[in-house]
Amino acid sequence: MKRLQTICSLISKCRVFADIGCDHGQVALFVAKNGLADTVVAADISEQCLKKAKVLIENWKKQREFLNSEGRAGDFCDCFSKAEFLGDTDSGKPISKVELFVSDGLKSIPRFPDQIVICGMGGHTIINILTDYFDKIKKENSILKNSSQPIAPPALILSPHTDTPSVRRFLSQNGYYLSSDILISDKDKFYYAIKAEKTSAFSKKTDKKRQKLSPLQLEFGVFYKNKCPDMAKKLDISLQKTSQFKPTPQNKKTIKQIKKAQKWQK
Ligand SMILES: C[S@@+](CC[C@H](N)C(=O)[O-])C[C@H]1O[C@@H](n2cnc3c(N)ncnc32)[C@H](O)[C@@H]1O
Repeated sequence: MKRLQTICSLISKCRVFADIGCDHGQVALFVAKNGLADTVVAADISEQCLKKAKVLIENWKKQREFLNSEGRAGDFCDCFSKAEFLGDTDSGKPISKVELFVSDGLKSIPRFPDQIVICGMGGHTIINILTDYFDKIKKENSILKNSSQPIAPPALILSPHTDTPSVRRFLSQNGYYLSSDILISDKDKFYYAIKAEKTSAFSKKTDKKRQKLSPLQLEFGVFYKNKCPDMAKKLDISLQKTSQFKPTPQNKKTIKQIKKAQKWQK
């Protein structure tokens, strides 16, 4: 829950929001409930997984209609106990339109979202989804000359379960600025929630096309120097684990990196 809460805290108002690999649908529901987008796209490659999101959204709509007819919009009932972390009730707020798609990444989505969440997958799957999507935009833009479509989605919120350094490198190489990179410790596991933005403000301010990330930033996060108990804990655990393995050149390099990062946590 802490993981999803942190991911949701990074979502800002937008026109079209997409949750790719939505599974249970809680992130999409959070955006719809809070009216953070005109349209919410919830997509999953698995029809079965998408069904969970469909049931959650439909129950919310029914509940809302019922409470509105009773003049009690905003009360919560049992069917939402699963999604209680989503916080505030939706009484009186404008809500979003929700569209559901079975889709491999964004391949079958007939829209160009301006904010995309992709969470709970391996880093390389996330990179493949984004690469395919960037290619799709490029192709469609070359067909529709003078199109008003964006060249790339303005904001991405990503939380890979593996290969996070590769995801950071990919974002930086594709002209994204990592404005948030939060380490989350949830039930003895560590995750990162990354928000990456295509801002003209960034390139104007720094006069650079890319945010250069150091090897330690790629590995431990853009803000690894900021003191944080979770970061200190993660580094201690990583050091312990890596020290147990054979002292290969790669492991020696990793230990050196961890120790360097640990200095900022003292
Ligand atoms: C572990 S769940 C994560 C659910 C949710 N995003 C979260 O973070 O809690 C991963 C979901 O991603 C979906 N998925 C995996 N590869 C995908 C792809 N290429 N396109 C769309 N969905 C995908 C799976 O079917 C599954 O529902």
